[in-house]
Amino acid sequence: MTSVTTHKTIVITGASSGIGAATARLFAKQGWHVVLGARRTEKLQSLVSDINKLGIGKATSFPLDVTSRKSVALFCQEAITACSGQIDILLNNAGLALGIAKVSEGSLDDWDAVIDTNVKGVLNITRSLLPHIMKQPSGHIINLGSIAGFLVYEGGSVYAASKHALRAITKTLRLELNGLPIRVTSIDPGMVETEFSNVRLKDDEKAKAVYKGLKPLSAEDIAECIYWSAARPAHVNIEEIVVMPIAQAAPHKVARSN
Ligand SMILES: NC(=O)c1ccc[n+]([C@@H]2O[C@H](COP(=O)([O-])OP(=O)(O)OC[C@H]3O[C@@H](n4cnc5c(N)ncnc54)[C@H](OP(=O)(O)O)[C@@H]3O)[C@@H](O)[C@H]2O)c1
Repeated sequence: MTSVTTHKTIVITGASSGIGAATARLFAKQGWHVVLGARRTEKLQSLVSDINKLGIGKATSFPLDVTSRKSVALFCQEAITACSGQIDILLNNAGLALGIAKVSEGSLDDWDAVIDTNVKGVLNITRSLLPHIMKQPSGHIINLGSIAGFLVYEGGSVYAASKHALRAITKTLRLELNGLPIRVTSIDPGMVETEFSNVRLKDDEKAKAVYKGLKPLSAEDIAECIYWSAARPAHVNIEEIVVMPIAQAAPHKVARSN
């Protein structure tokens, strides 16, 4: 027998750390069912257990590698079953940057991984869940873009290319879904202190130095932007939120104290 869900549901990709994990905690605190995916399943399980201990919302997790068609297909099937078929929000958050090499020196493998995750990964998941969401009374797709979707910087060519591409996909979705009760939002942060720079630089000391002498955004700041977009009345579609720490004016323009 299919159980009847009493919670609203958000599916979050890349929920094992940073913005995805903070968003899961915030929505769960507001009573939502959060369905979480990422590759590091032990981190997901520990987050699920923390959330479920609070007893307000509800959390479920499944393994997910957005670059694998097989993994995406299985995850989407499990996510739909876990929420008895009702997905209110899909948050395409899984993403990464790798390295800061110039085009003349970049790693082909890193470029593949960034494009496969940030662009094709979002397409894979959206292609799997959107036909289902289109049959529901309403829905909301929220994509985690970046200021790198608007601006470029030396050493950031492929990451910026991936976020420019994601922005094109987000804007196209808004056109294609026009007339349906499905909102499409892009959240575009500047510097947020998460595991992002550790992954990018593969060096924890260098990652720490990225945020030295300024107060970066926190994952919780971005979770608040996501929640605020979702909490608007159903006829209000927040298209984009571009958000930076006050010390940042562009990817390469950052005021630091000492
Ligand atoms: N931090 C910033 O300054 C910043 C600024 C602008 C935009 N963003 C964007 O914000 C999003 C979240 O990043 P974050 O800052 O929270 O960094 P983070 O702490 O490194 O989190 C990235 C998340 O993505 C997941 N992920 C990476 N590859 C994946 C894959 N193939 N399949 C499934 N999940 C995958 C990671 O989980 P697993 O490793 O466990 O799979 C992790 O949960 C990204 O799209 C990033 O581009 C970040």
